[in-house]
Amino acid sequence: MAGKKPRSVYTCSNCGSQSPKWLGKCPDCQQWNSFVEETLAPTSPRSSATAASGGDSAVALRLEQISGGAEQRQPCAIAELDRVLGGGIVPGSFILIGGDPGIGKSTLLLQAVAALAQQRKVLYVTAEESALQVKLRAQRLQISASELFLLAETALERIFDRVKEIKPAFLVVDSIQTIFTSALESAPGSVSQVRECAGMLMQLAKHSGIPTFIVGHVTKDGSIAGPRVLEHMVDTVLYFEGDPGHPYRILRAVKNRYGSTNEIGVFEMSDRGLRQVNNPSEIFLAERAEDAPGSVVITSLEGSRPILVELQALVSSAPYGTARRTTMGIDHNRVALLVAVLEKKAGISLLNHDIFVNVAGGVKIDEPAADLGILVALVSSHLNKIIPRRTIIFGETGLAGEIRAVARPELRVQEAARLGFERCIMPQGNIRSLEVPAGITVQGVATVQQTLDVLFDISS
Ligand code: TYD
Ligand code: MG
Repeated sequence: MAGKKPRSVYTCSNCGSQSPKWLGKCPDCQQWNSFVEETLAPTSPRSSATAASGGDSAVALRLEQISGGAEQRQPCAIAELDRVLGGGIVPGSFILIGGDPGIGKSTLLLQAVAALAQQRKVLYVTAEESALQVKLRAQRLQISASELFLLAETALERIFDRVKEIKPAFLVVDSIQTIFTSALESAPGSVSQVRECAGMLMQLAKHSGIPTFIVGHVTKDGSIAGPRVLEHMVDTVLYFEGDPGHPYRILRAVKNRYGSTNEIGVFEMSDRGLRQVNNPSEIFLAERAEDAPGSVVITSLEGSRPILVELQALVSSAPYGTARRTTMGIDHNRVALLVAVLEKKAGISLLNHDIFVNVAGGVKIDEPAADLGILVALVSSHLNKIIPRRTIIFGETGLAGEIRAVARPELRVQEAARLGFERCIMPQGNIRSLEVPAGITVQGVATVQQTLDVLFDISS
């Protein structure tokens, strides 16, 4: 390898895609301005194939020859986190928790490992804050865990030394973007550093069986590598999201080798740290303005759990210039599509109107079952007619104005009935074989026009 010049390569700090020359827009993830120059490290013999098999060449085994298998999951005492993980922490699992800075990732992990550290050793590597800062936070959270070890260290090699010395049962690295390995010359947070460090930590987790959590910040400006660079390497990817203006935080699994994705955990950030929210629907509906035009309650299914949330729409005339379309918590393309369906199929034109759609509580919804709710909220605001209180709505809207069946209608109706809703407007296709709980009547609709007739009596 002597005489070889170090080669440089351009890497997307969002998704890790590489190119020999600089590009303004990443062809893989479509992010603008995310390419940064990095020097390629000479390949060390340790890397790739040999490393993955632990040095020795592996032997192919029949399925039944492979020993072990009875999953031993360790619950972490935060039921919401356990649920998102698929029922506890699997030995040797490598878990990434991503999220915006300041959303509460460190708080969540500190609370999670505190319970584990009552009996078993936990090593919490704090590469961003000093050990004292973490201790102060732990005091505020009233955490006292005798087996919790804090290590303020950024050099990966020294972290490995401490892991060998302490032999923890759980390892937390907060955050992956601030640690570095001396094997590479690039700065901490660069794509190659983040990838290499995560790769080495993953091998540690797999060989030692120590479940490892790593924290990854989501960045908008592309100055440091984001968690997407790592998504394919880890077993489980959890995103912690929420609106900084609201106390609610949602933990979402977007990849999980040991459980289902789309499970969510709901938390509330308080002055004593994160609190689990067992009944999210009640909280999201707590401040609902009933009898207000433009407000509608929908059921959104998050994993196996139905959640009722309030959707609000405001349609106001925009006599000058281009009409605005602003959405919060909902994809604006979806709203644009529904506005077009309304115009074509129900003859309601919102062309010269500003449109604002918001999901109350800072929740994000990306389920087609919310379509009908959005559409109805728009019409309700436009006509200034309220949707009867205690009415719940769900259904997917097709481009031809048809209402399509959605997944798990029985769960949605049950949750609505549990919270005292009396009427449910839902897709006709879901009515068959539906067991209707006591206290609620269901009404099937097949088209947009029919829904509007049922709710607003437009034709008369
Ligand atoms: P933190 O866990 O440091 O976020 P991250 O690791 O994702 O960057 O949480 C930071 C925010 O949480 C901070 O703005 C203050 C807030 N917070 C509370 O409101 N209550 C608390 O008890 C704690 C510990 C933090
Ligand atoms: Mg932090």
